Amino acid sequence: MNTLTRRLYAARAQQGSALPAPARAAAPNPTAPAAASARPAASVAADGSDPLAAYRIAREPYWRAVADEVALYEAAYAVRMPMMLKGPTGCGKTRFVEYMAWKLGKPLITVACHEDMTASDLVGRFLLDANGTRWQDGPLALAARHGAICYLDEVVEARQDTTVVIHPLTDKRRMLPLEKKGEVIEAHPDFQLVISFNPGYQSLMKDLKQSTKQRFGALDFDYPEHEVEAEIVAHESGVDRDTASKLVHIAERARNLKGHGLDEGISTRMLIHAGSLIAQGVPALSACRMALVRPITDDADMRDALDAAVTTYF
Ligand SMILES: Nc1ncnc2c1ncn2[C@@H]1O[C@H](COP(=O)(O)OP(=O)(O)OP(=O)(O)O)[C@@H](O)[C@H]1O
Ligand SMILES: [Mg+2]
Repeated sequence: MNTLTRRLYAARAQQGSALPAPARAAAPNPTAPAAASARPAASVAADGSDPLAAYRIAREPYWRAVADEVALYEAAYAVRMPMMLKGPTGCGKTRFVEYMAWKLGKPLITVACHEDMTASDLVGRFLLDANGTRWQDGPLALAARHGAICYLDEVVEARQDTTVVIHPLTDKRRMLPLEKKGEVIEAHPDFQLVISFNPGYQSLMKDLKQSTKQRFGALDFDYPEHEVEAEIVAHESGVDRDTASKLVHIAERARNLKGHGLDEGISTRMLIHAGSLIAQGVPALSACRMALVRPITDDADMRDALDAAVTTYF
């Protein structure tokens, strides 16, 4: 237990009801899914409203299973293991976590991390209003207090001093100290933290500390094999399977150029863009140039090589 936590616990013990009560009374047992599922699905605010209503996923997101990722994630959630989703841009990490949140029936709070993000942006801050100051939970506190899956997208973008606020939440303690408020939130049993991480962008300056990494289980994501990716592109964009398959062939050519003049290959997301344009009636050549080639490189030779790949198929 660190000094802050010890201090907050001591303060809570001394002041009793002067400090806000944690979101629930009993200490969490993250390895007891039966107990967790016996609790009410929604946390209810004092006025009877559901504080996580905005974060519930009403409709099933489309997810084409690629391997055993769904079963593995379910097992991880059952023991509330914090999860790290690794993989290149546009390969399905965000869609997967949306799907899993829907499947598990849990709200999902997503935070896009960036280098100016502070710990207060995650945990919360006091706001000034007409009645004085009022505490506003940040997304991490909201998720921990009421029981959501909190997804920190591109977590390496955040400064390391920001990422350490997740440490006490992602080990056996499962708690979030709100230093400014003098409160320790004991995480709701439904709470889980998920982070995403693109190993390709990682540099020495931008990597997670081992002490952060070692709190998580990890799932690797990549562009799926040809037929599966074509199925996804056809489903998401509305083009026929044959056209989707041609788009995937172009992407595979570009992915082979990664590290040989291209920083990153053509993603599934880009293929869906191209397919959507084609489905709108845009000629395939123009659609591919606009959605696949022009965005990823300004190098004239590389553009020629990619344009040639496009004309091979369209
Ligand atoms: N297995 C899949 N099942 C269904 N859709 C998929 C799958 N893989 C990729 N997609 C599609 O690819 C699109 C892009 O994926 P997504 O936005 O989840 O990428 P990402 O890995 O989160 O990228 P980034 O790292 O840039 O945030 C999704 O909107 C979805 O349409
Ligand atoms: Mg994403």
